[in-house]
Amino acid sequence: MLRLSGLQEMRQWSRSKRAAGQTVGLVPTMGYLHEGHLRLIDRASEVADVVVVSIFVNPIQFGPNEDFLTYPRDLDRDCELIEQRGGACIFVPDTTVMYGSEPEVRVNPGSLAEHLCGPRRPGHFEGVLTVVAKLFNVVEPDLAVFGRKDAQQARAICRMVDDLNFPVQVVVFPTVREPDRLAMSSRNSYLSPEERAAALSIPRSLDAAHGMFVSGVTDARALIGAVREVLDRETLIDVDYAEAVDPDTMAPVNTAGHDAIVAVAARVGKARLIDNIVVGVGIAGDEILE
Ligand code: PAJ
Repeated sequence: MLRLSGLQEMRQWSRSKRAAGQTVGLVPTMGYLHEGHLRLIDRASEVADVVVVSIFVNPIQFGPNEDFLTYPRDLDRDCELIEQRGGACIFVPDTTVMYGSEPEVRVNPGSLAEHLCGPRRPGHFEGVLTVVAKLFNVVEPDLAVFGRKDAQQARAICRMVDDLNFPVQVVVFPTVREPDRLAMSSRNSYLSPEERAAALSIPRSLDAAHGMFVSGVTDARALIGAVREVLDRETLIDVDYAEAVDPDTMAPVNTAGHDAIVAVAARVGKARLIDNIVVGVGIAGDEILE
């Protein structure tokens, strides 16, 4: 497996593959890979001839009081895992290579950042879209795979690709969950055993909303009431938000349709965890590991 860190060499490698008639798939990540990331690589391998995995902890998507400096990192292990999963190339640019200077021109997520994590993490989605646009321009992939675990991020990226005419096909992959249904996240490594046990009430709360929806309740306040009831019982959990939103605009809905998203963000110890379901499908629509 090839490991590249320069922008020119990355672009040249990708262009050489395309010149040879191969399609290039990109899986952007911030590293400290888990099975959720690896399933995205598997999916990319199914739909592209060669797969590039980027690892870059993007400073401009972290707020001043967030975990940029302490974000978990283990590049050697990540390389091994990517190689095992058949990745052809790992792209690991330095911050100084990605950002010669503080970027002045950035991608504005518009109203998509007005909801859910947007107001709680000012500048976050702008930072995400800006780095993803840069990665698209450097790697020039035919397709890129993102996780529905970060539903608002995936939606903003799809919208960026549509609005700005990026010649990239975006594939959104279901949330990968541990056997006990906790959504996989690099930030789960911050949890103590007690906190991890408490975090299980997040998928449980989403289940409660799904159960209510299938029994015929579509009133968003009632659905969110059910989510809150489960979460509020857990003293180690501090709820940031619980909302039912439109899957296209991410704006809150009064009445939930089958494809509405019920999303939760909560602090558990040092970790801020997010999770969501498509309310009509529930957790059964995700990838639950055995
Ligand atoms: P990161 O948190 O490392 O996630 C990389 C990709 O893996 C994202 O598309 C994310 O949605 C997906 N992912 C994470 N956990 C998942 C899970 N349990 N199931 C399915 N997919 C999962 O998201 C980012 O990095 C960054 O914001 C990035 C897009 C790389 C831009 O910096």
